[in-house]
Amino acid sequence: MQALVLLLWTGALLAHSSCQDSAGSPQDSPDPDTTGVPVEEEDPFFKVPVNKLAAAISNFGYDLYRVRSSLSPAANVLLSPLSVATALSALSLGAEQRTESTIHRALYYDLISNPDIHGTYKELLAAITAPEKNFKSASRIIFERKLRIKSSFVTPLEKSYGTRPRILTGNPRLDLQEVNNWVQAQMKGKIARSTQEIPSGVSILLLGVAHFKGQWVTKFDSRKTSLQDFHLDEERTVRVPMMSDPKAILRYGLDSDLNCKIAQLPLTGSMSIIFFLPLKVTQNLTMIEESLTSEFIHDIDRELKTIQAVLTIPKLKLSYEGEVTKSLQEMKLQSLFDSPDFSKITGKPIKLTQVEHRSGFEWNEDGAGTAPSPGLQPAHLTFPLDYHLNQPFIFVLRDTDTGALLFIGKILDPRGI
Ligand SMILES: *[C@@H]1O[C@H](CO)[C@@H](O)[C@H](O)[C@H]1NC(C)=O
Repeated sequence: MQALVLLLWTGALLAHSSCQDSAGSPQDSPDPDTTGVPVEEEDPFFKVPVNKLAAAISNFGYDLYRVRSSLSPAANVLLSPLSVATALSALSLGAEQRTESTIHRALYYDLISNPDIHGTYKELLAAITAPEKNFKSASRIIFERKLRIKSSFVTPLEKSYGTRPRILTGNPRLDLQEVNNWVQAQMKGKIARSTQEIPSGVSILLLGVAHFKGQWVTKFDSRKTSLQDFHLDEERTVRVPMMSDPKAILRYGLDSDLNCKIAQLPLTGSMSIIFFLPLKVTQNLTMIEESLTSEFIHDIDRELKTIQAVLTIPKLKLSYEGEVTKSLQEMKLQSLFDSPDFSKITGKPIKLTQVEHRSGFEWNEDGAGTAPSPGLQPAHLTFPLDYHLNQPFIFVLRDTDTGALLFIGKILDPRGI
């Protein structure tokens, strides 16, 4: 299945190659022998344990995104699925075999042969939350009041995930305040305090929070930012602040199967954003969404060609606060909400009752302002290329070092959620 996508993708680039043949290097040329049986050899990138784990939880992330997006087809989606994956992975430390494998399957751990998943997870968290990434992520497991928790669960939880479980007091005001204080401390005040009370009837509540403020490698000239049209659909248009760069250097590819133009812009700290922009104005991004996997994104990252384009992109400042409980129930995780076995945590029968997510995401003109590196010489195009993010699009924020999906968004209306 994946190989098919890869071949189609190569074909898509071929269809486009007539205008960029001067940029082609030998290893970019598709091997004539690959037209038949797909090669099963695993990419060396995925042989690194941290990258392999990142690919697994990112695939969980794309699954979560798809369910979330289908539950609200007409709304923006902003998600950092990694924080939810982290909470689930941490919770699996307290799960007996049947329940543990339910969680591990959802996180695609069953496809990884790694005897020390939790140790590798610790490495991954350290890599993606390094200060230069500008990415903050934190996860927490919150239990019902008066629950007695085994220290044999708490110790490995702290060791690999750097988090202590929280037990509710039962006083809604105090509990809300405590959770807010924790979020403030973890996110360095970048996420607003919540006013929504902790729901009643909590047995296990998972909380995942994340924040990102992008720093472009090449900053935008704020004098070129102006109010411009954004097409919500074929009929409706709104005016939003758009940044522009008439001579942007970006990585680009046209996917003729997904009917979309893909572009990648680098961010400081070895990060990048990949945009998926349909050729036509449409709110139906299902076809693109269906194709998103760690492996597909990795292939895109390798196949895109550096070009120069006229770029416009809306300024963005989005936040999300709410439950993703229903989304997880629609994945392979329903049994965690019914009668799971968490006897490694406590003797009392407990089950997952809520999963909450809070996130903030922002980009504006800010960037390092450095010139593109000499290795990034754009292809010579015989015509100027336009890349205008002035209609619904999908973006993926990815850590280049590990391949981890850090944020994913469906932007139907850049004015906010
Ligand atoms: C969106 O597009 C997909 C495939 O392109 C199609 O199957 C689906 O019915 C469309 N959904 C809507 C709501 O139009």
